[in-house]
Amino acid sequence: MADIKPLIAGNWKMNGITASLAEVERLREGAAARELSGAVDIMVCPPATLIAAALGLLRNTPITVGAQDCHVKPSGAFTGDLSAPMLADAGARAVIVGHSERRAMHGERDQDVREKAQAVHGAGLQAIICVGETAGERRLGLTLAVIGRQLQGSLPEGATAANCVIAYEPVWAIGTGLTPTAADIAEVHHFIRAELTRLSGSAMAGTTRILYGGSVKPDNAGELLAIAGVNGALVGGASLKADDFLGIIAAVAGLSA
Ligand code: PGA
Repeated sequence: MADIKPLIAGNWKMNGITASLAEVERLREGAAARELSGAVDIMVCPPATLIAAALGLLRNTPITVGAQDCHVKPSGAFTGDLSAPMLADAGARAVIVGHSERRAMHGERDQDVREKAQAVHGAGLQAIICVGETAGERRLGLTLAVIGRQLQGSLPEGATAANCVIAYEPVWAIGTGLTPTAADIAEVHHFIRAELTRLSGSAMAGTTRILYGGSVKPDNAGELLAIAGVNGALVGGASLKADDFLGIIAAVAGLSA
């Protein structure tokens, strides 16, 4: 990870009410006290209802706020949806797109993910594009084929190392306590970087951050984040408690110290 500053992003999913902002304050205090931001970029992606309030607590800190999804259109008659410009207006700097929960529960296809990533870029934000195989696909030896197809289908025109982050999240590792072997993670991350170079050339080669996600906890973060080609983590459950999230960030900061 020598020349790529790692990113640890917390995906709160559909968790968090006003009282949960106390965790954001604890994160802010803990990261400052332990001087973690020098070594690691930190992002919190709370539900959209809390973006503005979280931002208020994080103003004048290096910790950024992201969103978890957006509509492909900037505005219009789409009851209940939120657009990328709205999320930007609320203070988000990035939007997660193509999370496996959106792909599985909302039928999002690669084409939808690409259009969402385009919308995110159109609003001047960074797209965190998620890819990952299911347990069945891994059993059948299809992991790299699936990830290659998802990347090719989901990467928008104009993708660069600055406006995109890739998150490799094996579906079977999310929320299960299971993680791939170090060799399997290294293989996929190496493959993703090679594919980014093939698909987008020098704009994405070398410096695009490729995160690992799926059951990252304080006690396995050091090991997972030390794997060659892993440039940070997308953290679900363990991002909800500031102490756990700080434990993960500290483990990564220790690696790059
Ligand atoms: P998890 O979720 O850390 O709870 O496994 C990761 C994710 O879905 O981004």
